[in-house]
Amino acid sequence: MNTQLLFPTPLWTQKECGVDRQPIIDFVHYVQKEDPDGRRASNAGGWQSWDFVDHVMLDNPLKPLRDKILECAYYAADQWGFQQYSLKILNLWINVNKKGHFNHMHTHAGSILSGVYYLKIPSCCCGNITFHQDFNQGMMKESWGCAANFSRYEDMNEIEHDEYPAEDTMLLFPSWLPHSVSASSSGDERISISFNIAAFSDHYHEVYPSR
Ligand SMILES: [Fe+2]
Repeated sequence: MNTQLLFPTPLWTQKECGVDRQPIIDFVHYVQKEDPDGRRASNAGGWQSWDFVDHVMLDNPLKPLRDKILECAYYAADQWGFQQYSLKILNLWINVNKKGHFNHMHTHAGSILSGVYYLKIPSCCCGNITFHQDFNQGMMKESWGCAANFSRYEDMNEIEHDEYPAEDTMLLFPSWLPHSVSASSSGDERISISFNIAAFSDHYHEVYPSR
């Protein structure tokens, strides 16, 4: 018997991005010092920066990371089936979580591809990122039995999926995929950098410059 998996959800992982992290860590601390209030979004506690738009990053310490993000995003989008297109980073922001801080479940509306880069991660217990299945699909599993009736960790049955952050690792995922970050138990700072990416058609090259 043949089995097809319909409508799979991609999650791309790039380990060992090779980004020189210390200049960016120094920059994060500088921004945090200049703007101690930051902004409040999905984060419960912690510090989150306001947005950096793409052209600002061309001339600051985020540039090497910005370039690596686009390299990974083009790989992902090519695999996703995009053709004759260009990508643009819409916005990028910094998250610094410490003990007890977490991020509520959210999506990244208004873009097509989103991601996170782990800049500085405590050695233990700093909070996973959890991706959540659409609630309507998850309902079917819950309708006739509890978790004891399923192998919860099989791909076809899991209703949420945890990823454990590692330094210099980047995750990319569809922007509509709900996700959350569990509370950190570490007293050390957990610095991640999140971003949103839009895709544009290259049909009119004079309007949307190709990559
Ligand atoms: Fe997010």
